[in-house]
Amino acid sequence: MPRLIRALGCLLFASLPALALATPAEEARIDKLIGKMTLQEKAGQLTLVAAVYDDEPSDRERKPGEPTAMERQLNEIRDGKISAVFNGIGADWARKLQRAAVKESRLGIPLLISVDAIHGFRTIFPVPLAEAASWDVELAERVARATAVEATAAGVAWNLAPNVDIARDARWGRGVEGAGEDVLLAQRMAAARVRGIQKGEGGKHLAEPDALLATPKHFVGYGAAEGGLDYNPADISERTLREVYLPPFKAAIDAGALALMAGFHEIGGVPMMANHHLLTEVLRDEWGYEGIVVSDYAADHELVEHGVARDDREAVKIAFMAGVDVSMTSRLYQQYLPDLVEAGEVPVERLDQAVRRMLRVKMKLGLFEAPYGRIDAAREKQLSHTPAARALALQAAQRSIVLLKNDHDLLPLARDARVALIGPLAGGPDHLNGPWTVFDDKRDAVSVEAGLRKALGANARISVSKGSNIDSPLPGGLEAAVSAAQNADVVVLAIGESEAMTGEAQSRTEVVIPPAQQALAEAIAATGRPTVVLLRTGRALALEGAVRDADAILVTWFLAAETGNAIADVLYGDVNPSGRLPVSFPQRPGQVPVYYARKNTGRPAPAGPFQEYTARYRDIGVGPLYPFGHGLGYSRVEYDEPTLNTTWLEWNGTLKVSARVRNTGSRSVTETVQFYLRDRVASVTRPLRELKDFRRITLAPGESRELSFTLRHDDLAFLGDDLKPVVEPGDFDVWIAPSATAGTPVRFKLMPEQPVPDSDEKP
Ligand code: BGC
Repeated sequence: MPRLIRALGCLLFASLPALALATPAEEARIDKLIGKMTLQEKAGQLTLVAAVYDDEPSDRERKPGEPTAMERQLNEIRDGKISAVFNGIGADWARKLQRAAVKESRLGIPLLISVDAIHGFRTIFPVPLAEAASWDVELAERVARATAVEATAAGVAWNLAPNVDIARDARWGRGVEGAGEDVLLAQRMAAARVRGIQKGEGGKHLAEPDALLATPKHFVGYGAAEGGLDYNPADISERTLREVYLPPFKAAIDAGALALMAGFHEIGGVPMMANHHLLTEVLRDEWGYEGIVVSDYAADHELVEHGVARDDREAVKIAFMAGVDVSMTSRLYQQYLPDLVEAGEVPVERLDQAVRRMLRVKMKLGLFEAPYGRIDAAREKQLSHTPAARALALQAAQRSIVLLKNDHDLLPLARDARVALIGPLAGGPDHLNGPWTVFDDKRDAVSVEAGLRKALGANARISVSKGSNIDSPLPGGLEAAVSAAQNADVVVLAIGESEAMTGEAQSRTEVVIPPAQQALAEAIAATGRPTVVLLRTGRALALEGAVRDADAILVTWFLAAETGNAIADVLYGDVNPSGRLPVSFPQRPGQVPVYYARKNTGRPAPAGPFQEYTARYRDIGVGPLYPFGHGLGYSRVEYDEPTLNTTWLEWNGTLKVSARVRNTGSRSVTETVQFYLRDRVASVTRPLRELKDFRRITLAPGESRELSFTLRHDDLAFLGDDLKPVVEPGDFDVWIAPSATAGTPVRFKLMPEQPVPDSDEKP
């Protein structure tokens, strides 16, 4: 039996075509290295572990003569048992490790130093969901670039980012790490972030000392966890996988990503770590992906908990044969792969294939030529916390803010208005950066209070009161806040989620403002003072009562370093808010998942009151409180009805859809013009609307501009009954609109393909 597996292995793994990732000379060098490696060294190249430092707490308990944790890690590197180390920092630390790999190990293979830089490294940028609200793809690329510059200056070569999971269920806490609910926005953000992480300034791409390897994660469908519960199974049809969850990964890979992380979850009974279909058939065979696949944190071991492996040894075999090349933190590959190969249970060709992928990536990163290229203490000093990065953090924060409503033009505020700044999120330094920062110093972030005081200077007329804690009432808090409100012209209410309420394993059953803060909002509303809500959140929230009914609402997410400055700029009108929701805000928490690209059902509910036997809730309609794409500025923008160059589109023709967009207000405005499509009749059901394109434009007061979007045959393709792309003639609607529920549809018909006339020459 083992011999059969070996023979099969030769066929499966050796016959793969030579990949373009490395040059012939590099391949020859890799061949030579692999030829020299022991099984243990090969398994070592597939092992990623967490960083340790000098003076770890565990060192204090060691017996005399025993090595410290750092010494043990250095020894493992010297012995070729480790390929990569993650979440360590600093050029000096990195140099020590790299020296052990390059100078003190038998084969001198350089080490990969890796990190989770999800929204910044030292300078912290808005959480990715906030950045997605800018709909500014070029900004996302610049932020990723700035993060790469800071991280590489500290010795890092590999970023365990971006998160490209689509998240449609607001209960799931990790939506904060991604780009929201929509496929197109997620694809564009994924590609931009990969480009920014991997590009490098000098043109040699990954080999540049300021370029990082990107890792789109968590392959795939992790955001579809049942009930929004992190790590829960996702039961996703192949169609939904291919239409919704896979495309951002494909976009990231097309943008050049050479690492990819497999998720913790299962899909339809098959844990991702064991999912040969997705990890090998789709990723490798269909897409031709050439980089490495890394497990999530000890997810190989978790196959035992999932109940598909008897023990760790079997878990390694399953994960490795499914297509997971590299194991994170468990050290199980190190422990079991050599033995599995010797026993003939894993073909050595599969081992060599994975090692080859890792070595190619290291070569591509320039690590063989310049192992210390990213490790330079002087560069680290010079490139960390630069004013340029900080200025970018401010711009990103300004563009991430979404104005949901602005009754009676309450905003912008007059600078001489007396402000009562109220709420547990009014001051700092906590809950500004948001989840997933590994090396930040939260004292670097500017609170709302600090930002307002700086903007208003010595004449600031601000009172600050907390009103409540985040999760519980504050004794005397309500009374003090009410009295502050009564003595002010306007209330600025800073409420929402704490930093700990979003991120990994932070699922919530009720996506609402915590009750103590809701009570605060109700008490403030009773004073009748005009109120601006600043909503800090990492997810879409169901806004209710006094929060929903406040005069103005700004979604301010977790804006990180420049929180207070960006908010002050928007509150006082120095910056016109331009963000657009990347997720639909539900009316009620029980409504989630709510997203715009839903299906019609056979019984769509008519607008208006409840009607029996239609697809709506008894208590509310199916629509959101605020739709995907929604966001206001301080001006009025009007859209003319779209016009078409033809309403009968030839099979190979081009449809041009145009609309004039007018700024009828008195301030300049940045508008995100959105282009949506609906296929009215197809062989499988299609969403009510799909975003096909968008453009951010700036219009001066009184300015109008005609915008055109084009559609060709291929843009109308969808996955047919057999899951293959197909274009079908028939009726389509298009919108040019400011959100996913606004605008008037215009219809066109795609004409059928002309039948090819029979020719006499045909047999
Ligand atoms: C997360 C990953 C992350 C890893 C290492 C895991 O818990 O799911 O996204 O890269 O930890 O920090």
